[in-house]
Amino acid sequence: MKPARILAIETSCDETACAVIENGRALLASTVASQMDVHARYGGVYPEVASRQHVLSIVPVVEQTLAQSSLTLKDMDVIAVTRGPGLAGSLVVGMNMAKGLALGTGLPIVGVNHLEGHVYSAWVYNAGESVSPEPQFPLMALIVSGGHTELNLMTDHLTYQRLGSTLDDAAGEAFDKVGRLLGLPFPGGPAIQKAAEGGNPTRFKFPRARVDNPYDFSFSGLKTAVLYEVNDLKKKHKTLPIEDLAASFQKTVVDTLFEKAMQAARDHNAREILVAGGVSANRALRNAFMSQKEFRVNIPAFSLCTDNAAMIGAAGYYRYALGHVSDLTMDVQPTWELS
Ligand code: KG4
Ligand code: ZN
Repeated sequence: MKPARILAIETSCDETACAVIENGRALLASTVASQMDVHARYGGVYPEVASRQHVLSIVPVVEQTLAQSSLTLKDMDVIAVTRGPGLAGSLVVGMNMAKGLALGTGLPIVGVNHLEGHVYSAWVYNAGESVSPEPQFPLMALIVSGGHTELNLMTDHLTYQRLGSTLDDAAGEAFDKVGRLLGLPFPGGPAIQKAAEGGNPTRFKFPRARVDNPYDFSFSGLKTAVLYEVNDLKKKHKTLPIEDLAASFQKTVVDTLFEKAMQAARDHNAREILVAGGVSANRALRNAFMSQKEFRVNIPAFSLCTDNAAMIGAAGYYRYALGHVSDLTMDVQPTWELS
């Protein structure tokens, strides 16, 4: 595939991010300006505040990334940008920055689906460090982010067959909601992981949802079960065993994600499993996949699990190299459905 150096921009939620990446894999520079502290006081991402923060951060973040790479816009071949799914007001800031850069430089622009970006985070390695093995097709991709939980069979670059998805809450959303009801800080995922470290994962037997399609997920019943347990304990004036509740909840989610991904990989003769999205930063989930020997597993480095622009540059490279160039009339893409 033709070589290309890409400047990538990601602003789909509460991270203003920019990266420079070569040939979809070698990361030269990456900046992520997190708004987490700003949103923490609201207990979740506040969309209007998020878009205003992006407006303030986008130019310094792009400038800082270029400076970090010791390159200029003249050294770039392509501009890549997240076009969705995400918060419309946030996406528009990154899209307009990217369109402005493409217009000013004459460079081609590629719109990238955020979830495809998460998948391609597994292709990225830091330039100058050892080259990580490239994921091999067919692979089973488990996407676990704040907004999506899906199993996709990937038979080639940019080629997905969705086998199942969540019928209600996404895995990350379940972590965030359960974190809130346990009184833990936002975002719930890392807070639950931390609390769970000292807890007993078998103390509470939370239910696992039954779904017709074995590759679908459902986490809202689990969230309600934790809520009932918490209410029951409170009624009895007992101190909440936060650590045990967190550990038991986390174990239920991790076991479900792990077992379904393994079964899907077996059923579809996948060569490898790929796990990506914010929840793939979870240590218990990573350990579950790393401790089995049946499939080779690709999980991105911690810094690439949650939102970043390196992954958008990686996916953008394969889109560009395979002829999927967009134009300046490109609009926000509301869904994961790829065209
Ligand atoms: O991919 P991401 O950064 O944003 C979306 O595209 O949604 O995922 C964010 C989600 C949040 O729900 C957050 O709680 C979860 O990823 N998360 C984790 C961990 N780190 C982030 N969940 C469990 N354990 C973690 N260590
Ligand atoms: Zn994401």
